[in-house]
Amino acid sequence: MDTDPNGDPGHHWTDPANVRDFVARSDRRAAERRQQFDLLVKLIPHPQDHPLAVLDVGAGFGAAAAAVLAAFPRARATLLDISEEMQRIGHARLAPYQGRYAYHAGSFDGGTLPDALGGPYDVVVSALAIHHLDPEHKRSLYRTIAARLAAGGVFLQLDIVAAPNPDLQALYWEIDDREHHERGEQPWDRTKIRHTELQPLDDHLRWLREAGLQRLDCYWKRLDLVLIGGRKPG
Ligand SMILES: C[S@@+](CC[C@H](N)C(=O)[O-])C[C@H]1O[C@@H](n2cnc3c(N)ncnc32)[C@H](O)[C@@H]1O
Repeated sequence: MDTDPNGDPGHHWTDPANVRDFVARSDRRAAERRQQFDLLVKLIPHPQDHPLAVLDVGAGFGAAAAAVLAAFPRARATLLDISEEMQRIGHARLAPYQGRYAYHAGSFDGGTLPDALGGPYDVVVSALAIHHLDPEHKRSLYRTIAARLAAGGVFLQLDIVAAPNPDLQALYWEIDDREHHERGEQPWDRTKIRHTELQPLDDHLRWLREAGLQRLDCYWKRLDLVLIGGRKPG
């Protein structure tokens, strides 16, 4: 986990060293992440030839957006991120989708999206980014995202949540530490997690329901990592 308690939530990703560390860890998990994104893509209800308008919130180097662009040949993606280094790496990795994606250098701080992002979007995706926000800002970001979805559009988010109780949280983190060790990696420094950072799955589902989304569920879960989302009626 990766939070600077002294700065704006998520802004430690503007440090290139943190970005390189994340990208290396992400690459070592490429096979697992592939499966997660494969499922995310299958949850998009539109026909494959639909010219989807896609928004990736906290896109980083574009892993989620790339999965959608690969599966939907006429899709175009906007990638929102604050980190120049992530964008630099993203441009290299998204080269096969040249002309079908654009970065927007901006922030979802405060639970809002930049006005310039416009909409409506058929698909909004997000991976490992929104957990940085305080709970009230997560809730308002879900409302903002729902407002930017087209009728029938979907929001799909892969992210970490709090375990249902402290006993399970300890167990999940113990397993996570062990898995880092097995890969020869340093475990996350959890002393840096802000106490407001993670909320239980039920809170997320409630906020998504309040935002007006339907067909809501946790579609997949492993320990504290979940794939959640829903569809705007229409
Ligand atoms: C852990 S990385 C995940 C990147 C990518 N979604 C992935 O799964 O590979 C988190 C990303 O969220 C971005 N981010 C964090 N807070 C942000 C904010 N307030 N506004 C925009 N981007 C933010 C960071 O710059 C970083 O690229």
